[in-house]
Amino acid sequence: MEKKIYIKTFGCQMNEYDSNRIFDSLKNIGYKKTSEQDAANCYILNTCHIRDKAKEKVYHEIGRIKKIYKFKNKPIMIVAGCVAQAENQEMIKREPFIDAVVGPQAYHKINEIIMNFEKNLKIEETDFDTVGKFNYFDNININSNKISSYLTIQEGCDKFCNFCVVPYTRGPEFSRPFKKILSETEKLIINGAKEIILLGQNVNAYNFEENSKKYRLSNLINEISKYSEIERIRFITSHPRDMTDDLISCYTNKKLMPLLHLPIQSGSNKILKLMNRKHTVEHYIEIYNNLKKINSQVEISSDFIISYPGETNKDFLDTLDLIDKIKFINSYSFIFSPRPGTVASKLKLIDKDVSKERLQIIQKKLFDNQKFKNKSFENRIIDVLVENKLKNQNKLFGRNKYMNSVIFEGSEKNIGKITKVKIENSNQNNLFGKILNNTKERAA
Ligand code: SAM
Ligand code: SF4
Ligand code: F3S
Repeated sequence: MEKKIYIKTFGCQMNEYDSNRIFDSLKNIGYKKTSEQDAANCYILNTCHIRDKAKEKVYHEIGRIKKIYKFKNKPIMIVAGCVAQAENQEMIKREPFIDAVVGPQAYHKINEIIMNFEKNLKIEETDFDTVGKFNYFDNININSNKISSYLTIQEGCDKFCNFCVVPYTRGPEFSRPFKKILSETEKLIINGAKEIILLGQNVNAYNFEENSKKYRLSNLINEISKYSEIERIRFITSHPRDMTDDLISCYTNKKLMPLLHLPIQSGSNKILKLMNRKHTVEHYIEIYNNLKKINSQVEISSDFIISYPGETNKDFLDTLDLIDKIKFINSYSFIFSPRPGTVASKLKLIDKDVSKERLQIIQKKLFDNQKFKNKSFENRIIDVLVENKLKNQNKLFGRNKYMNSVIFEGSEKNIGKITKVKIENSNQNNLFGKILNNTKERAA
């Protein structure tokens, strides 16, 4: 019987990277990926615990899968990711359809779990064996052949913001060895990568020491930029505390894209303190100014949490003021969601209607910035890294320097290349245009 795996991924880019690596590993024991949800003999849900009723969403999803397999052989059901880590045994007790729960630092155990699978033998693997995991995956072939490829360089978090589950689900900060990251970059290049997106929960806290030499994210960026095949480098997600001068200086490197995702969460120092963010608004603005001095093209995107317990209207207005000062683009905002086990989970919540109204106001502001920025590209020629052809459409898809999606007419032979595209139209999420044949005009 053909072994087929279906992996459904929720959450952040790191989960996407992990799902791909889990699949790479399963290939070694004969599994093929299927895109048909009802055709798998192994089903993995890679889950996220960051907000809302994450746990309930997973049970709801399993309910759906159960229906799909009602008249078929049950697949081996594995729950991976941050909900698996946070809920562990509880999930197996509550939902017998689940065969195993595997936390993010135990993915090197998945092959064994599947190979030794016995009906009714429930498995929980939630140790934080980050070193063991990366050592294992360093020896697993990479199948990903994306033009823009993720590469995890760091995992976990020691910062313990009062609202956040990540330190509990991903464990303590761990940085992968410098040379291993470079050899993974080389593998991705062989598979066709032109852009590397370095990943970490605190990617700019990357800190690896070998033979008394210290390596930081800036060293990685400089080293990766030496590969001629790599045209673009990005990294996500950064913390303001770790935006050191050496990293800011990297923004003179032409291969480092001029969009920095730097979550601030709030524009009020009082709220930042209550959140245990360990940075101030002034420090954040100083980072922004320093970046602009180094490279005036740099733009910042951010995450905002609205209605954190204790947020007054004045605190909220401070956040809006900050958005007026720093014209954030590509940003996200969320209403505070109490997470079990975190310090903030016991705090008094702000009225739901007030929160919804605040969210609407902030989102309108952020979306207006976004539309304004996108409109500024109209009638200009921009550099686009072409990633693929759109399904069912005769159009190409790529991204500009600021990560905006660009949809345009052009030949497939441009896939994998930086191409000049004349932007004719835009909306909040996309830029539309066509490939330029006349290359005399200069790209923005
Ligand atoms: N490490 C990043 C940092 O320090 O900014 C953030 C990583 S977190 C995976 C992504 C975003 O989720 C955060 O920036 C925050 O805005 C949001 N988030 C985290 N916990 C949340 C909560 N309890 N309620 C609402 N949003 C939350
Ligand atoms: Fe969560 Fe980021 Fe804070 Fe760490 S630094 S606790 S990942 S929000
Ligand atoms: Fe979610 Fe875990 Fe990523 S909680 S955002 S999948 S680190």
